[in-house]
Amino acid sequence: MPSYVIVGASRGIGYQYLKTLSKDPSNKIIAVARNVDATQSQVTSDNLANVHVVQGDLTDAESLKAAAKQASEITGGAVDHLVVNGAYLSHGTAFMKPSDYVGKEQYFLEEFNASMTANVAGVMFAINAFIPYVLKSSIKKVIVISSGHAAVDFMAVAGVAEAIPYAISKTAVNMLVAKFAIEYKKDGIVFLAMCPGVVLTQAESLDQLPPPAREIYDKMTEQFQKVDPRFKGPMSPKDSVEEQLNLIGRISMKESGSFLTRKGTKEWLAQ
Ligand SMILES: NC(=O)c1ccc[n+]([C@@H]2O[C@H](COP(=O)([O-])OP(=O)(O)OC[C@H]3O[C@@H](n4cnc5c(N)ncnc54)[C@H](OP(=O)(O)O)[C@@H]3O)[C@@H](O)[C@H]2O)c1
Repeated sequence: MPSYVIVGASRGIGYQYLKTLSKDPSNKIIAVARNVDATQSQVTSDNLANVHVVQGDLTDAESLKAAAKQASEITGGAVDHLVVNGAYLSHGTAFMKPSDYVGKEQYFLEEFNASMTANVAGVMFAINAFIPYVLKSSIKKVIVISSGHAAVDFMAVAGVAEAIPYAISKTAVNMLVAKFAIEYKKDGIVFLAMCPGVVLTQAESLDQLPPPAREIYDKMTEQFQKVDPRFKGPMSPKDSVEEQLNLIGRISMKESGSFLTRKGTKEWLAQ
């Protein structure tokens, strides 16, 4: 029975992991969420089998240690796959360029600290909490959900000057993943920072988005298509997670510590 722990599983891509993985009755799935009641009631209403919801917050290391202990009791000791998905998405800074922070330095520091705390320190706390149980597995895979915002050369080509606290936190977490890969190479743990692609998590389809949000996606699609005409716009969480799981299944020590797309490449917009 392979086990999967998804940290940050209440919504979006994290919740899609629960939906996709629960289709295979041989999987044992542990959902780590800040709000257990809300996540559990969604899991119950969607009738997801083999999903166990436990409390955990990326900004609270003790909660992650407790979640890891609970997870190990559910799985019988070992954690085969750890997916650290949750992140602080700094919405207020999503469209701010470096010069927009002149006179807003305090705001920058607040958003920067929140992004770095959850998206970098929180990822380290989560991995450190679960690693004793990952070490007991024969599969030993740790995946951190990163972002194309961390692909420095790609950002320059795509002309994205915004989303600074988020982008820096995702760039930093890629380095953290590389450091973990170096430390645990001797133990055979495979670490990967993975970009899930552009995924539509706020609605079932673009048509359901309110006009301002729709306009943002349309503009982004136009901008990205100039860089890579293969880009067709945001994909569904279902399609993204299927490809992510496919990659997780096939990666090996050869790729450990890398930052790759869900297809296992560096082609950030390929679909
Ligand atoms: N969607 C995309 O196009 C895209 C592209 C590139 C990368 N990503 C990455 O993919 C991951 C998932 O994004 P998403 O689009 O699914 O976002 P989302 O729908 O906004 O979901 C974010 C998830 O993170 C959880 N979370 C936030 N802060 C947390 C904390 N302190 N502790 C534990 N969980 C926390 C949220 O839980 P609550 O319900 O408790 O808030 C929620 O489950 C993120 O790492 C994101 O950076 C997404």
